[in-house]
Amino acid sequence: MPNAKPDHPIIDAMTRRWSPYAFTPRTVERDKVLQCFEAARWAASSFNEQPWSFLLAFREQEAEFQRMLACLSEGNQQWAGNVGVLILTVTREHFQRNDKPNRVAQHDLGAAAAHFALQAAELGLQAHQMAGVELEKVRSTYQIPDGYQPQTAIALGYPDPDPPAGKLAERDAGPRERRPIEEQVFHGRWQQPAF
Ligand SMILES: Cc1cc2nc3c(=O)[nH]c(=O)nc-3n(C[C@H](O)[C@H](O)[C@H](O)COP(=O)(O)O)c2cc1C
Repeated sequence: MPNAKPDHPIIDAMTRRWSPYAFTPRTVERDKVLQCFEAARWAASSFNEQPWSFLLAFREQEAEFQRMLACLSEGNQQWAGNVGVLILTVTREHFQRNDKPNRVAQHDLGAAAAHFALQAAELGLQAHQMAGVELEKVRSTYQIPDGYQPQTAIALGYPDPDPPAGKLAERDAGPRERRPIEEQVFHGRWQQPAF
């Protein structure tokens, strides 16, 4: 598996988390799926509003799985059909406490999704997040009401350790790179590296 090569020590599951394209069409155990959602549930959020919701489909429920797969962009449909579980994410656009717009709802969903993905990696699974989703199709297919916004999808499953040669294997074998900390963390003024 293409582990990250961090410049500084980080939590082990973070080095093992990645976004595979080649998955094995293997059932994901229900208790492991629950553990991933439990991890998401404990993410921090503004005013503890937890503005995220998830819709899921297990590959064993074939019609339901295909209905969700059809909500992904064509590019994502090409590889995500092999995963054990598909998930759609949704945010609540207003705070429940005062009905004001929640400008950090997507931020908080991202935190929950990161928790989810790290828990998946801890369990030997991987979660591949997707922006490539037909948002209006999600809204109509699952009757999502006003005030809630479909956002992303997550493919959860067991990565294929030995994928057949081809495009997916090539993408999975590609380098895992990150911008250096000097380009990301500033001190004193904009773009002055802190480290
Ligand atoms: C919000 C979000 C949206 C993404 N959208 C897609 C997508 O639509 N299709 C895709 O193949 N990968 C998608 N990715 C995966 C990224 O390409 C991947 O996380 C990035 O290249 C870093 O690789 P790593 O996750 O293996 O570290 C998305 C990731 C995130 C967090």
